[in-house]
Formats: sequence, structure tokens, C-alpha cells
Amino acid sequence: MMRQHLANYILTPLFLINFICSFGQENIDLLIDEMSIEQKVGQMTQINLGFLSSNVDQHDGKVKQIDNEKLKRAIEQYHVGSILNTAGTAYSIEKWHKILTDIQDIALATPLEIPVLYGIDAIHGVTYTKGSTLFPHNIGLAATRNPAIANQIAAATAKESRASGLRWNFDPVLDVGRNPLWPRFCETFGEDPFLVATLGAELIKGYEQDGLSENTAVASCMKHFIGYSDPKSGKDRTEAYISDITLWQKHIPSFKAAIDAGASTIMINSSMINDVPVHGSYKLLTELLRNKLGFKGMIVTDWEDIIRLHERHKIASTPREAVRIAIEAGIDMSMVPNSFSFCEHLIDLVKSGDISEDRIDASVRRILILKRDLGLFTNAYPEKDAVQNFGLQEYKSLALNSARESMVLLKNQDNVLPLPKNKKYLLLGPGANCLSALNGCWSYSWQGDNEEVYPKTSKTILDVFQERFGTSQVLCDVKSEYSNATNFSINFSDEEINNVDYVILFLGENAYAESPGNIDDLTLDHNQIDLAKRAVALDKKVILVLIQGRPRIISDFSENIDGIVNAFLPGSMGAQAIVDVLFGDFNPSGTLPFTYPAHSGDLLTYDHKNLSAMVRTAPNNKTYGGYHPAFKFGDGLSYSDFSISNLKLNADTITTDEKLQISFQLKNRSDLDGTKNIDVFINDHYASLAPDVKNLKDFTKVFLKGGEQREVLMELDRDDLFFYNAKGEKLLEEGSFSVFIGDQTATFYLKK
Ligand code: BGC
Repeated sequence: MMRQHLANYILTPLFLINFICSFGQENIDLLIDEMSIEQKVGQMTQINLGFLSSNVDQHDGKVKQIDNEKLKRAIEQYHVGSILNTAGTAYSIEKWHKILTDIQDIALATPLEIPVLYGIDAIHGVTYTKGSTLFPHNIGLAATRNPAIANQIAAATAKESRASGLRWNFDPVLDVGRNPLWPRFCETFGEDPFLVATLGAELIKGYEQDGLSENTAVASCMKHFIGYSDPKSGKDRTEAYISDITLWQKHIPSFKAAIDAGASTIMINSSMINDVPVHGSYKLLTELLRNKLGFKGMIVTDWEDIIRLHERHKIASTPREAVRIAIEAGIDMSMVPNSFSFCEHLIDLVKSGDISEDRIDASVRRILILKRDLGLFTNAYPEKDAVQNFGLQEYKSLALNSARESMVLLKNQDNVLPLPKNKKYLLLGPGANCLSALNGCWSYSWQGDNEEVYPKTSKTILDVFQERFGTSQVLCDVKSEYSNATNFSINFSDEEINNVDYVILFLGENAYAESPGNIDDLTLDHNQIDLAKRAVALDKKVILVLIQGRPRIISDFSENIDGIVNAFLPGSMGAQAIVDVLFGDFNPSGTLPFTYPAHSGDLLTYDHKNLSAMVRTAPNNKTYGGYHPAFKFGDGLSYSDFSISNLKLNADTITTDEKLQISFQLKNRSDLDGTKNIDVFINDHYASLAPDVKNLKDFTKVFLKGGEQREVLMELDRDDLFFYNAKGEKLLEEGSFSVFIGDQTATFYLKK
């Protein structure tokens, strides 16, 4: 009835807009009925802005001119429904508005007037808008154990993104950092599934707010489904072997939590698990993601990942077959992104009957619903009144506070830290004077390593030292190019060195993103290790600040370092935050979200099996005791002196319907106010599937004034005590469990 009704109208622009906005999904179906196969396939196509520019070399880092003719061809001839990325580098808000206006002008002048959906990676702040605030990367955010701050960061990012005219953010990364070699480890919330799920869900809520049509919200994109983060080789986009049990226990929970939090879209893992490329897997994309996890939103591929089913994975003998496999598996939108091959093959597949039109209609429907929800049919253009939400001072404070809270004090021999403010400091190491190292990947450029594009107001650590202490107290000749040879030597006279009281080493990694960050050895670069050893030989107090996205091994020299702070990739206010922590203007509270390995051959996560850490103590006698990382998951010191005591449970036995109430005393034994992050772990003593030695089930942050003591209450229930089997069923088994908080343990029995 409605269908006939629509066919009787001449589709005027105003009619269509009102029609889509004022009615529900049914009306989107009517629009779909009006669309040709070419128009439908176009909606499913996402093209890279760089491909529509004068110079198509995508990764030369140069700024490119957008070519209006190419843009028109993409939208008018290929009906392209989505565009992503920048053509080179970060743009000003004005430039973004101009680009997006040009794009929508073309789209709205086509017969069906369907607006273009623009997607961008704004993964720790709005990467590609000049002057945006960059926050700590997820790996540091995880150390804050602060879901509220994650939510606030996402909300600020959504506002700056929307102010730029960008309504779809390819974030959050929900991959669980199970392999510290992986160059995207810094984009994760670390190795624990519960931590990733909790903070990931907060990012989703912060991005999507109370609805996508608000000019403060963006559509989020969970990524990369699934099993991307534990490649066997540690290299990016290489194969993983993950059992169904491990997939359920470790990798699925964060996606499940994000789906439940209302995530609108999802991006797929470029790689393969158990020899099956995920982009070609009906089992993973349709049976698992759609049917079992109940995801209703839109599925987008990652970069070029359909064609790669043919070119790299070799499961499709032709590019056309690659398209068929991916669409049948469940893909809605192809991030092609540098050709129109996807359109051509999919049109042919539908016209030849190899793919049904109903199948593509289902994808087009999801894409149009997303566009409608984002308010694009009402106003496709950048919203002028959203611009007032850009560049607010409160984002800078948020960036500073989150960076401060992320710092993990790993070692503080004889309370060498905080440092006195009236001494002389020698700053060494490439991180001392480098913005890229502080900000890491996705910082005004993809790799984040272009010092030139950072805002002029950005500060390196050297800048902050000089600002606070003047030049007379600070000795440093570190150059801003990270790998400059000077940065690995100590170029000062004996007399100058004699006057120094403290040597502060800033070591770690320069910015990298994705496969350019592949490494063969987790050990810190040898130039940096040599420098550290020479620093130690100066016979001063030596402090090490690690600015890095993954735990580079420091066992060669860490024993001789007096104080160690892991600063992760703290973002645009990172230098200030580091100096605040070093001098006690902020009392550190961050706790490690991963296991910091001591040796490159020992990369056990904290939640390993009993078997992994068995050691032989005598012939025919093996016992648990072989787990010796440099620092443990949850480690992190404070300048206050906290103690945890008197751990108590409300019952020795609970039934599966009862809650377990936990209490303990937290005391600040020092005079200094401080915050303590507390992780709650459990261990299932015996289970029908080998249990982990422990699992994180909850965490909290408690602020205590100097000398204060408080009883802390926490609660666990059946949702904390089950485990998954290979089918994804939750098993709750009778038996005893231990609770671990700090060095306290208590045991209870779960009765069915
Ligand atoms: C990355 C994604 C990203 C996409 C678009 C890919 O190379 O794997 O995480 O969203 O590029 O920039």
C-alpha cells in the first residue's frame, strides 16, 4: 500500500527528507524500493578521501588537493554512500566544513538526495582536526581504572568531532591486548577482558550520548571484530590461533558489553583466526555477531579487506569472488577504499543472481537507518552551532587529569620520588624533547610522528622543565627528532655533570601506527639501553620515565635505576602530567593494565593457567611458582603509604542467587592525601574447564586523606563466577573460590 503510494509521488527533495525523518524503518524500505542496484551498491561503498584527490599515493604524508571532478564521479556515477579519512593530514574546522559541504552539495543534488556518511578515526581525541585535544591512549586510560574519565574523554571527543562536521568515529578499539609485541597494543585497554569491557562500554556511551541526532554525539564503531589482538607472530594483521573457549572467555566479552551499551557500528578484524579470514566468515559475522550476540547495527570492513581475501588471504581466486564471500559472510559496507572495484563486482554479482537483491537490501537498510539516526536526512551539513563545543578549556583539564591519573609509579627506591624542586636535573633520552613520542599514533597524522603538525602550543618535557625551573637547573641537549644520534649520548663536560643532582631518562618508543610499528624484539632499543647504562655509570640518582605504548623490556638495567614511572602515551598534556608526578604536584595512582614482562621469552598474562607457571622443585615434583614478570598486572605505587587489611566475606557459602559481600580496611599510613586503585580478583579452585590462576572481577578507586582509614565494601554475584564453554554457554559450577585484594585472600563456597 505504502509502496504504491510512494511510487505515485514525484520525489521532490523536501518530500523525501520529510518522509524519511518523520516515519520509521518502513519508510526507509520505501526509499530502498526506489533505488537501483547501482544506487544500493553505492551506499555500501566507502571511499578514501585521498583517492578523490590530486595525488593518490595514500601514505606519502603530504597534503593533497581534493579533486572536485573525482568527488562528483564517486557520488554521481558510483553513488558512493560513505567517505573516510583525510587527504594527507589534519584540517582546520573551517577546512573540514568546506570539504563536507562540498561533498553534501553533490550528494543532495543527486536524484535520491541521500547524504554521505563521513567516517574518521578519532581514537584518543579528534586525530584529524587541527587544535583538537589529544587524550592519553587507551593503554594509559586503563591504568586510571576510572570509567567516568573514559566516558568524559569520549564525550569531549564526540563534541570536537561533531564540531568538525564528522559524525562517525571508528572507535573504540575493543581488542584485548593479549600480546604486547602487537603494535596496536597501545590502542587497547590492556590484557584483561573485564577491564576492556568496562572501559570500552563507557567510551560507547560517551560517544553516542542519548542519541545520535544530538549535535554532541557521534556513532561509535567497535573494532576490530574479532581475535585481532593476539597474532601468533606479534606482527600486525597476521594470523591468530584462538580456541572457541578462549574466544568466549577473553575476546568476546568486550564486544558483547559494547553491543549492550548501544554501539551503532562495528569494524572487522583484517586478519584471520584459525585459518579463517574474519571478513569471509559467515560463522563469525552472521552466526556469532548477528545471531548470537544480537548486533543489529552496521558492519563495515577494515581497509581494503575485501580485495585482500583475494590478494593476501588467498581464499578467493578472483576479486569478484572476494566480494561474494564477504557479502555472504555478512558485511554491510566495504571500506574499499581506493578503487571502485567493489561497486563493479557487487553490481555484477547481484545482476547475475549470485547474490540476491534482498541480501543487499538488508545492508542498505542498516546504512540508511544509521544516516537517519545521525540526523543526516534532516541536516547533512556541518552544524554551525556544534562549533561552540570545540577547543574548550575543560578538555585541556580533562587531558591533564587523565594523563596524571594514568601514570604508574613502578619503582621508588628509598623514596627517591617525588624530586625536590631546587636541584639540578640532567634530562637524557629521545623522549625528553619529542611531541610524537608523547602522543603516539593517530595524532594529527596516522603515524603521529610528524612534529611539524602538532599545535604550536604543545609542550615537550624539556619545555615544561624549562618553564618551571628555568634553564639554570636543567641540562639537556635532546633534539626533537627521536632517532637523532645525539639523543643517545651524554654530551656534557665532567664539570657540568658534577653539578647535576638527578639524571632523568626519557626512554621508550617513538610514535608508530599499525604495521610500521612491528618489532622483532620486545626489549628496549639497544641504543637506549646503552644510554641508560651510561647514565647509571654517572653515579647520580637516576629516574626512568617510560613513554611507550607497550612494555619494552628493561631488565638489562632496571635494577640500577632508583625510580621508574610508566607514562604510556599520555597525549597533549602528557609532559605537564609527567613533571607533575615527578615533583609530587600529583600523587600517582595508576595501576598496570598488563603484565610487564622481564624477559622476551616469557609473555604470560596474569590470568594464565596453573600449568603455565609450573616449575620443577625436585625430581618428580613440580609446583606453581614460575611466574616472574618485571611488574605485575595491577602494580602501581603511590607517594602515600596504603595498607589493605582485614578482608572479610559476608558468608562462607553462598548460593548462585546470593550476592557475596566483601569488606576490607584501607588505610593511608602516610601524611599525604592519595588515591588507591583496588583490583578485585577471584580464583575458581577447580572447574570442568581449566580455570585461570585469577581473574579481575571488579575495581574501584578510593581517595583517603593522610592518616585516614576506611572500610571499603564491594560485591560479587553469579555474573562474576561463571565461565564460558566453547559454545558460549555460561557455566556456573559448585565449588570453592578465593578472593584476592592486595595481599589479602579469603575463600568461599558456591553452592548450586
Ligand atoms: C585500521 C582501522 C582504521 C582504518 C581507517 C585501518 O588501517 O586498521 O583501525 O579505522 O584503517 O583509517
